[in-house]
Amino acid sequence: MHKIFNIAKNSFKRKNIGVMLSKVFLRIKERSLNKQKTDVMAWCNAQAESYEDFAKSLNETLWTETQDACEEIKKEADKKLAVLDMDLGGGGNYPVLYFLTRHLSAKTVVETGVAAGWSSQAILSALKKNKNEGQLYSSDFPYFRYANPEKLVGYVVDEDLKNNWHLFIDGDQNNLPEISQKTGTIDLFHYDSDKSYNGREYALQTLEPQLKKDSVVIFDDIQDNFHFKDYVERNKLKYKIFEFEGKYIGLTAPFL
Ligand SMILES: C[S@@+](CC[C@H](N)C(=O)[O-])C[C@H]1O[C@@H](n2cnc3c(N)ncnc32)[C@H](O)[C@@H]1O
Repeated sequence: MHKIFNIAKNSFKRKNIGVMLSKVFLRIKERSLNKQKTDVMAWCNAQAESYEDFAKSLNETLWTETQDACEEIKKEADKKLAVLDMDLGGGGNYPVLYFLTRHLSAKTVVETGVAAGWSSQAILSALKKNKNEGQLYSSDFPYFRYANPEKLVGYVVDEDLKNNWHLFIDGDQNNLPEISQKTGTIDLFHYDSDKSYNGREYALQTLEPQLKKDSVVIFDDIQDNFHFKDYVERNKLKYKIFEFEGKYIGLTAPFL
């Protein structure tokens, strides 16, 4: 009952109602794409490779550093979340994000989808280690089933990392146009928010001026629809697919 009350109350706040309606609209509009899910899964599965082997082939020492750093991130995050006692969902493939932020010496990283903030914490830790004043721009839309859900966004992110963090919580459709005005070229872009085909396409189109040929792009949960396949084929991009906890992430990078 609390859950329904919170969803109703939060939906009517400020810009939220527009984002909620568009999420519902897309879910209905894209229902027909559900039929493709078995084919998408097969396409991902046929090409999936190990992200550990990929990272080691680029820089084995850095992968060892990544594993140590991510073990620490997990330990600290688990501790914070145990006190909170709410389910904020698990993280994306945050070791890959830590590794790439370090490998690219990234200065500008953009991500969509924060939730508890595993990915944000990993990227911000790697930016700090880079010592180049890199910045992370994150777009999220709070989980409405909780009271005051804004306070839960990025819950596991350390206070001392927040100076280099620009967090926007009004939904991608409001946040991404604002973020695109604030960044120069994006070194690394991670998409892990609205999993619809249109949501993914909207993000790419909005950030297009900042995504250059050297930018590295990662899409999470690419098994949901054929967006990633269409994107790489349309733009003739080199890509890799990695399996992570029974799901798939897609990576495009100029150095593949
Ligand atoms: C899978 S979680 C992100 C996990 C995060 N990357 C991590 O590693 O911890 C997805 C997040 O995207 C948010 N989200 C869903 N639809 C969104 C939208 N249209 N705009 C922005 N964020 C959205 C959800 O509320 C949730 O916080």
